[in-house]
Amino acid sequence: MVTRRSFMGQLAVAGAAGAYFGETLIAGHAQAKPAAPSTMAWLDANENPAGPPRSAIEAMVHSAPHSWRYHFDEFNALTQAIAQSEQVAPEQVMFGVGSSEVIASAICAFASATKPMITASPTYDIIVQLARAMGKAVVEIPLTQQWSYPVKQLAAEATKAGGGLIYLCNPNNPTASLTAKEDVHWLVNNLPPDTVLFVDEAYLEFVDPNLAESAIKYVRDQKNVVVARTFSKIYGMAGVRAGFGCARQDLIAAMNPFMDNVIPYLGVRAATAALQEKATLLPERRNNNTRIRGELCQWLDAHKVRYIPSHANFIMIDVKREVRPFSAAMFREGVAVGRPFPPLNTMLRVTLGNDADMQRFRQAFLKLYST
Ligand SMILES: Cc1ncc(COP(=O)(O)O)c(C=O)c1O
Repeated sequence: MVTRRSFMGQLAVAGAAGAYFGETLIAGHAQAKPAAPSTMAWLDANENPAGPPRSAIEAMVHSAPHSWRYHFDEFNALTQAIAQSEQVAPEQVMFGVGSSEVIASAICAFASATKPMITASPTYDIIVQLARAMGKAVVEIPLTQQWSYPVKQLAAEATKAGGGLIYLCNPNNPTASLTAKEDVHWLVNNLPPDTVLFVDEAYLEFVDPNLAESAIKYVRDQKNVVVARTFSKIYGMAGVRAGFGCARQDLIAAMNPFMDNVIPYLGVRAATAALQEKATLLPERRNNNTRIRGELCQWLDAHKVRYIPSHANFIMIDVKREVRPFSAAMFREGVAVGRPFPPLNTMLRVTLGNDADMQRFRQAFLKLYST
């Protein structure tokens, strides 16, 4: 059995992977922190400064003294809570140390040196690097002109390869663009044999409910689909490390050997508590994000700055010059922004923070953009 620990060990041995894996390393917190002032606005890793809901904080505080045990006996409560929340059977649920663990296990289970992971770029590049580091074949095709996934081409590539894993991030990171539910529907119903569709919905809860549709409905229909969700984004608990996947029972069974199947006890308690608040918490946070995003877009429009319309808690802004030195200069102004996402070399990915963060962003951005 390959546990997460041994799997991560293999990655480190594989060479570059050890240096690449993890949003934190790529985002630059680790390198940047010593020089970063305590007042830094962290707009680089699509975190949510609203933080964990109060009930989750209380659950963690109360649980801390009991964290000497693994608490395997409590994992079932989280599985049940997720199953109830997503209206799937408990057997169709797996939880992970963030959704990263769920994604990694799907790559292990469904891609190989001959059956590729197929995706469109630019997307969540860590996944692509991870698959390559694990010796999996990877096929990348460009996103469409509208920044959505070209679903017919994805299916064609899977047919050509005789199957594999299609990774579709919706909304997509880094473009914050949405692939229409009709396109996802087409793909699910035209999946070539031996092909699993993985839909990464890390940011779905930020999408306008009129446009959003979770692919979990296809799990309920017993399709060849795995869907990942996380408590890191709208729930504001990136440091808690809790995520989950929903899939048909046999797909879960194929991924399970690659999971550690133990997540931090405080994460179990925090996630279970947060789910109880979902009905009020999510609309409140989504509305707040929509407001902050709308205000930023208005401001960008007023300054004639171009950007990709966003459906998430981050936005890609065209700085009309090489983004790397621009980001470095933003950092010196006290605003950490996203890493470069080639080939979008003039685009800056900015996480939507709170009002104070966005104020600092505007100040720093205007100073640098106008020079
Ligand atoms: C698209 C996407 N998927 C998955 C993740 C991983 O999140 P986590 O492991 O914290 O759930 C991220 C993190 O930024 C992401 O952007």
